Amino acid sequence: MTAKIYPVTITGVGKGLPEKVITNNDLEKLVETSDEWIFTRSGIKERRVVSGNETASSLAVKAGIEALKYAGVEAIDLDLIICATSLPDNLYPSCACEVQAQIGAVNAAAFDVVAACSGLIYGLKIANNFIKTGEYKNVLIVGVDVHSRFVDWNDRTTCVLFGDGAGALLVQRAEDEQNDILCIDINADGRMGKELRIPLYGSNCPLAEPNSPELQHVNMNGREIYKFAVNRTPESILNVLSKVDLTVNDVDKYILHQANIRIIQSIAAKLGEDEEKFYVNLDKYGNTSSASIAIALTDALEENKINYPSTIILSGFGAGLTWGTAIVRWRAKDHRCHSESI
Ligand code: ACO
Repeated sequence: MTAKIYPVTITGVGKGLPEKVITNNDLEKLVETSDEWIFTRSGIKERRVVSGNETASSLAVKAGIEALKYAGVEAIDLDLIICATSLPDNLYPSCACEVQAQIGAVNAAAFDVVAACSGLIYGLKIANNFIKTGEYKNVLIVGVDVHSRFVDWNDRTTCVLFGDGAGALLVQRAEDEQNDILCIDINADGRMGKELRIPLYGSNCPLAEPNSPELQHVNMNGREIYKFAVNRTPESILNVLSKVDLTVNDVDKYILHQANIRIIQSIAAKLGEDEEKFYVNLDKYGNTSSASIAIALTDALEENKINYPSTIILSGFGAGLTWGTAIVRWRAKDHRCHSESI
C-alpha cells in the first residue's frame, strides 16, 4: 500500500525590515568607497540596519505576523515554526522559539535551520515534507539575518554588501487537492566552506587557555563566491525543471537570492532568459541573506509583478556552501485587508 501524499501550497508572505536606512553615501563616511563603486559592482543603493530595540527575532516576528495575516491564519493553528537564520540573537534559545513565544503559537514545534542564504529553500523543503506526509498542516518559515552585527564596519570589501531583514512564508496543506510545490532541490559542498565564513573565535578549551576578546566578522572570498553562484544556480534551476518535465519557457518569474545584480544578470544570460523575468529589489535592501527570497516575493506581490496563477522559481546560494531551488505555483489570495489583528 502506498502512503497518501497531501498537496502543499504557499498561502502567505510577509517581511520585517529595520527602520534605519544606510545609503551608499553614508558608507562613504565610514570606509574608502563610493556610491559609484558599490552600485556598479553590486547594484546596491541602500540597505536597512537594526537600531534601538530591533533584533533578529523582532524582525522575524513582524514578518511572521504579516504572513499569517496575508493568509488569514491564526498563530494558534501553527504546527511548526522554522527560522532559517545564520545570525540569530542567541546561540540558544533558537530564533524560532522566540517567534513562537512572541506570536503565541503555543501548539507549534520550533527550530532553526542554518544554511545561510539558501536557508529559506532548505526550510521550504522541510515544511513540504512534513505537510505532504500528513504530519502537519500549517508551517511558518521565517528567513532572518542581522549582518550588521557581524560585518567589520572597517572592511569595505564586505560591509557595503549586506543589510538586515526578515521574510516569511506560510506553507499549508492545500484544501482543494492541488499541489503547488512542484519540486525542491537542496545541495551543499562543505569543502568550499572556507570561502565564506563567520568563525566563532576563542579558545577551544577556555579552562586551559583563556579566551582573548576577539570579534566575529564575515570573511569572504568575493570572487570565488561569485563564480560559485553563477555556475551552481543555473545548474540547480535547470535540474529542478527537468525533474518535472518543464523548461525555462514554463517559468513566469524568477525570485533569486538578492546578493548582487551582476550575479542575477549572469544567471539570466546562462539560462537564455530575459532579465525582465527576474525580480530585483537588492538596490533597496542589499544582501539580506536568509531573508532575501521571501522579502523579494513579498515585494513582487505588493508591486503586482506576479500574475495569478504563475510558475515561480525560488533559488538561493550562500555560505556552507549551500544552494537550492524550488518551483512553486502561485495562486494565493491576499487576505490581509479582511483579517483582524492576530
Ligand atoms: N569600495 C571601493 N573599492 C573597493 C571596495 C569598495 N567597497 N571593495 C573592494 N574595493 C577594491 C578592491 O580593494 C580592489 O582594489 P585593487 O584593485 O586596488 O586591489 C578593487 O576594488 C577590485 O576588487 P575586487 O574584489 O576584484 O572586485 P570585484 O569586481 O570582484 O567585486 C564583489 C567584488 C562585488 C564582492 C564581487 O566579487 C562579488 O559580487 N562577489 C560575490 C559576493 C557575494 O554576493 N557574496 C554574498 C553571497 S552569499 C551570501 O549571500 C551570504
